[in-house]
Amino acid sequence: MPVEPPSRDDLRLVRRTLEALPGVAEAEVLLIGDGPGAAVSALVSDGRPLPEPSVAAPPSARLDDGETRVVPGCLAAMERAAVLAIAHTVHTVQTTGLFRHGAEEVADALRAAPRHRWIVRRWLAALASENLPAPPSRQELARAMRDLDAARQELGYPAEMGRFFQTALRSLPRLVRDEISLQSLLFAGGGMTAARGNYRDNLISRRLNRAAAEAVAARAPARVLEIGAGVGATTDAVLAAVGEVDYLFTDVSAFFLDAARERFAHRTGLRYAHLDVNAPMALDEQPFDVVLAANVLHNARHAGRTLAAIRELLAPGGTLVLIESCVEHHLVSASMHFLMSPRADALLPGFADVRQGQDRVFLTRTEWILQLAAAGYRDLRVEPAPDGPLAAAGQHVFTAVRGERHPAPAPLPPEAAEALPPHLVPREIHTVDALITDRSHRP
Ligand SMILES: C[S@@+](CC[C@H](N)C(=O)[O-])C[C@H]1O[C@@H](n2cnc3c(N)ncnc32)[C@H](O)[C@@H]1O
Repeated sequence: MPVEPPSRDDLRLVRRTLEALPGVAEAEVLLIGDGPGAAVSALVSDGRPLPEPSVAAPPSARLDDGETRVVPGCLAAMERAAVLAIAHTVHTVQTTGLFRHGAEEVADALRAAPRHRWIVRRWLAALASENLPAPPSRQELARAMRDLDAARQELGYPAEMGRFFQTALRSLPRLVRDEISLQSLLFAGGGMTAARGNYRDNLISRRLNRAAAEAVAARAPARVLEIGAGVGATTDAVLAAVGEVDYLFTDVSAFFLDAARERFAHRTGLRYAHLDVNAPMALDEQPFDVVLAANVLHNARHAGRTLAAIRELLAPGGTLVLIESCVEHHLVSASMHFLMSPRADALLPGFADVRQGQDRVFLTRTEWILQLAAAGYRDLRVEPAPDGPLAAAGQHVFTAVRGERHPAPAPLPPEAAEALPPHLVPREIHTVDALITDRSHRP
């Protein structure tokens, strides 16, 4: 007799069974796959704050040198242009003094699309943090745009990236109304030069991609999985640093997979697959020596859950290499954040982890460290050094090794397992940090 897929009531029963176990404060039950073959899996938390994990100090001056000294000044110029463009946009609809009205009224006045209203809230927070209640003059704005372009050049971003930033900052009202998409500006004319400029062809990304590539090469891996490989900016650096390797290039988007098939056609050892960090990641694959995820894991609805799932893809002692932005820059709130708004027809709620309800996309450096430790990784290394000039960019390379200890509680005690029908006994149980989930969607 075919087994029915578990219902919400079934999942609630599993959750309550887990939460009755000693040492489990909270549980979240997930379904892996769908239909009658769906398997139950669970995340549990003991609710205790995590001890601060030890983090290896990066080798001194590994990433910073004379060249990176310009980073803080250039970023300040870029941030200034962004915040002035935001102020200009907001003041076109808000002439009576910025802070007299709430974010929702400003969003209404801007006719912001519902999915982008969180960005308007970010903008108002940015203006408040920069103490900018007055609109910039035309000259001030023009000067800031020129400074932005000079900074862009100094950091080595291609001219297309300059055009992209300028167009985005001048198009904020149309972007926030969803009259144009950020993708149409980033991939103007179907080219990837601006996107590659953002993730590869600039001083900051070159340093970070090189550090990530060195971390991958240090493992002399036979098998690498790259998640969210996109335009292949980090892939380029890694492929240049490793020898013969079996490299599984994955992304959620068929567009990037097709482009990569063409771009890396000359290179042997590459394979391609669709992989979504918000879906079950059970790949029919041998474990990997290295998993690389550059500028993608912030797309995970629950970072801890995704890190725990990635751990299962790694061979014992395998290495996870992440590149992540850990600071919400104003320029990002006026450009790339438009890519992070939910789709208009999205069914899923937003983030379900520490970012929940906070109008932000990125986890902080400390939050990533804690999530990695909680998800069963050890020997964490974070670069660049916090006191060097490159740190101003807010982007970090995290390297972590799969720990031996499976991050699971003692296996479900037999009496608890016996209390559940066999098809509801969780196939896997991951321990993560405090579960911050949207309870309205919880069974
Ligand atoms: C900011 S780009 C980074 C691209 C590339 N890793 C790099 O740094 O050059 C983010 C990439 O993540 C992919 N992505 C977005 N959501 C994802 C998801 N849920 N699962 C897997 N990949 C995702 C996007 O398609 C895109 O290629």
